[in-house]
Amino acid sequence: MAQIIDGKLISLQIQEEIAAEVKTIKANNGKIPHLAAILVGNDGASETYVGAKVKACEKIGFKSTLVRLSETTTDQELIYFIEGLNADADIDGYIVQLPLPKHMDEQKIMEAIAPQKDVDGFHPQNIGRMALNLPTYLPATPYGIMQLLERYKIETVGKNCVVIGRSHIVGSPMSILMARNTNPGNCTVTMCHSRTANLKEFTLKADIIIVALGKAEFLTADMVKDGVVVIDVGITRVASSETKSGFKLLGDVKYDEVAEKSSFITPVPGGVGPMTIASLLMNTLKASKKEIYK
Ligand code: GUN
Repeated sequence: MAQIIDGKLISLQIQEEIAAEVKTIKANNGKIPHLAAILVGNDGASETYVGAKVKACEKIGFKSTLVRLSETTTDQELIYFIEGLNADADIDGYIVQLPLPKHMDEQKIMEAIAPQKDVDGFHPQNIGRMALNLPTYLPATPYGIMQLLERYKIETVGKNCVVIGRSHIVGSPMSILMARNTNPGNCTVTMCHSRTANLKEFTLKADIIIVALGKAEFLTADMVKDGVVVIDVGITRVASSETKSGFKLLGDVKYDEVAEKSSFITPVPGGVGPMTIASLLMNTLKASKKEIYK
């Protein structure tokens, strides 16, 4: 039976570690880390995520600023606010919550963010630095997964790792990180996606599977070998009569049956999800200490 990887617990531990460091900074009259977030429009999930980020800042003693812009904001207007944050010496790092409204050019927006303040790690310069194994801000979800592997002392050297999904914010960076000459890392990585033929042939050979597809209960027990490590990045809301809210969250893994064959597995909720906030706070602390860009 699998050991459950408790992302909620590790995220809280990391937040306590950061809070302790902020106390020391304050005691020494140092610069208090300051994170800003720009939220465009009224997407429900984005509101929840940004709200949680602001709340986490308050809890650990960071300053936070939330910039709310209307659904009809143009690229040019948003870039005006981005340039304001780029120039504001008190802001150490900031994020533009994604997805942006359909009329906006996400890539152009990401490129307007000063790489030094890009605590989401989405700027092409920071993605390039990640690929080259140079100091950089790692994107929140991949950084969180690396923390889980490290803190649970999961062996990765020489293992076969299958990443399912090639999104710019999870699958793609995850496959780079797992292949790098780092620990965790040093895996033989196979990157699979919607056009992969005979996916099961790859997953059956995998020692570590990272699923970031967004398809509820996609990975089933017949697709994995005994002792596999399973990292589930999916969160799909489905209607449910079992809960008061009327919905429940499902991962990309058919949890009960896959857990029976796994050595380690992340649950949904409470696995990878809570780690993304910890990652963002770690990146903001690095930004405020000028650890990445001197
Ligand atoms: N939307 C989903 N995940 C993320 C993230 O990590 N950062 C931002 N800015 N938006 C997101």
